[in-house]
Parts: sequence; structure tokens; C-alpha cells
Amino acid sequence: MSAGTGILQRAGGPRPAGRIGAPVHVVGATSRPGAALCRALAAAGEAFVPVLRDPARWRALDLAGEPRLADLRGAEALQRALRDATHVVACVHAQWTPAILAAAPPAARLVLTGSTRRFSRWPDAHGDGVRAGEAALLASGRPGIMLHPTMIYGTEGENNVRRLAALLRRLPVAPLPGGGRALVQPIHQDDVARCFLAALRRPADTPEALVIAGPTPLAYRDFLVAVARAAGLRVPAVLPVPAGPLRLLAPLTRLLPGMPRIEADEIRRLTEDKAFDIGPMRARLGVEPMPLAEGLARTFGQGLAAAPARDGAA
Ligand SMILES: NC(=O)c1ccc[n+]([C@@H]2O[C@H](COP(=O)([O-])OP(=O)(O)OC[C@H]3O[C@@H](n4cnc5c(N)ncnc54)[C@H](OP(=O)(O)O)[C@@H]3O)[C@@H](O)[C@H]2O)c1
Repeated sequence: MSAGTGILQRAGGPRPAGRIGAPVHVVGATSRPGAALCRALAAAGEAFVPVLRDPARWRALDLAGEPRLADLRGAEALQRALRDATHVVACVHAQWTPAILAAAPPAARLVLTGSTRRFSRWPDAHGDGVRAGEAALLASGRPGIMLHPTMIYGTEGENNVRRLAALLRRLPVAPLPGGGRALVQPIHQDDVARCFLAALRRPADTPEALVIAGPTPLAYRDFLVAVARAAGLRVPAVLPVPAGPLRLLAPLTRLLPGMPRIEADEIRRLTEDKAFDIGPMRARLGVEPMPLAEGLARTFGQGLAAAPARDGAA
């Protein structure tokens, strides 16, 4: 997996961004990306209709908006929730795309959440679901776009950067498969929300899919160092370890009190590059993602200047 996944992109430049001008139905408004999008819509003065299954979770988010309740397994409830929709964003897993296509009015503009997991060489249900969802959108001929984010960081409770920081707090060294040389290109949640907004504002009449990612790929070991520094932690030395033994040890994290869980498959994915060309994202959406240093400073509530290294190891 590397830069040049442009087979999914369509040619053409950005079109002028205007107001959406109609309420946006946000399916999965209680998800991390859904809640962040609702906040971004509110900040932009755009109306939205939260569509979700758990009103208590919605209330806990302290967001304005009258929710419509729909479990995605119930076609009628979803159809009722989307009955008057002209713009629908789905922040739920892409496997639900057929349900959303079936429930949304045929002319509604769709913005769906995919994942760059769809490019992984390692087969799993998550990647399979994203590929199936994307295929369903592209085959539908409907006006919609599936955005495939790379690793998203920066939201409350996310299990990427925050979990890594929690791990680094406990580990004296960082055992990484292949020494952590494989590439990652994380995108901050605020940029994901900006991409959703831009996609909603762009007129479209055919389906497409687009990768959204941070500005530059970097080796996982450098990402780890950046996270440690931004979190104000000692930078651990990186210990190169073959992926096989690490995969066997990963399930033991479940047994260690206070230790964030790591799955064996996550270790395997750390051995493949996840680097992407964001030229099409810039051209189609007009979004310039923030540098990692800025996103990490936002994540850990620091100013950009206040992210000193306590230790220069690794
Ligand atoms: N996290 C990342 O780094 C990353 C990267 C790329 C793509 N993505 C994609 O981003 C999306 C959200 O990811 P996340 O990890 O942040 O997940 P999440 O917060 O757990 O969100 C999942 C959402 O799906 C809803 N949902 C699940 N089953 C449902 C059902 N039967 N009926 C109604 N709603 C249902 C959940 O509702 P409840 O709130 O009621 O549980 C929740 O709102 C996923 O599509 C994921 O593939 C994430």
C-alpha cells in the first residue's frame, strides 16, 4: 500500500464551496466522527438532524438537535428517519451502505465513511465490509462519495494516539515489528470533519471514493516519538522485534491491569505501509490537513511551542 491509490479518484478541480443550505442528516451522530461533525456543522451555522439508536448517548454529548431514532438493522425506522433528507452523512461502518442507500431518498447527496483498511493486504471483516460498502455505492449510480480516512486521531476516547500515549506511559521500551519502519499518515478528526463539510458542499451527480489522510507519511517509530513528546512523556527506546513473537504476546495485554489492549492483527498491520497521495483530496475537497505536530498539540491540549522532549532516546 503506498501513494498512488488514485485509481479511485475522479479527475477535476475543486468547485466553489457554498453553504449546504439544507439540514444534514447525520447517521451515527453518537460515533466519534459523528459527534465531531455535528459540532463542526453547528460551528458553521449549518442545520443538522442527528440519526442514532441510543438517546442517552446523544444527551451525554450535550449537543443541540432533536434526534431521530433508528437502529440500522430496521429498514423502516431508518427510512422514516431519512424521509426528507437531501444531504446524508453516514459516520457508521461502511458495511451499512446498502441499508443507507435503501433508506435515503434517491436524490439525496450521500457522504459515507469508509476506511483505508480497504487497501490492507491482510483480509479481515472490517476491510471486507468497507470494500463491500464502497462497491455498493459505486454500483448504485447515486450522487455520493465514500471518504476513506487513514488512522483518525484527536477525538475524546479515540484508541489511536491516546491509547499509544497510555501505552508509552507504562512501557520502558517500545517493541516494534521491523523497528517501526512502516509508514503511517494519521489525520486529525477536525480535518476529517472539514472533509465531510467540503464533500457536502460540493455538487455531485455520480458516486466516487476518495482517500483522506494527514499531510505526510512518516515511519511509525517517528510517529511514536512525536506522540510521546506531545504527551510530555519520556521517549522510549525502540526495540526492533519480529512481528511473529509480538503477535503471540499481544493478547497478554488483556491480562495486565491498566494496560491498553492490543490485538495480534494490529501488530501485523504495523508491518505494512499506510501512505497515500492526498493530491486528489486537496483537489476535490480543497482541504489542507494540519501537520501532525499541530494535531498532537491540539490532542494533548498544548500550544504548539509547548511540546518539549523530556528525553532524546530512540
Ligand atoms: N478510528 C479510526 O481511526 C478510523 C479510521 C478510518 C475509518 N474509521 C471509520 O469511522 C467510523 C467510526 O469509527 P469509530 O471507531 O469512531 O466508531 P464508533 O465511534 O464506535 O462509531 C460506530 C457508530 O456506529 C453506530 N452503530 C453501530 N451499529 C449500529 C446499529 N445497528 N444501529 C445504529 N447505529 C449503529 C454506533 O452507535 P452507538 O453510538 O449507539 O454505539 C456508533 O455511532 C467507522 O466507519 C470506521 O470504519 C475510523
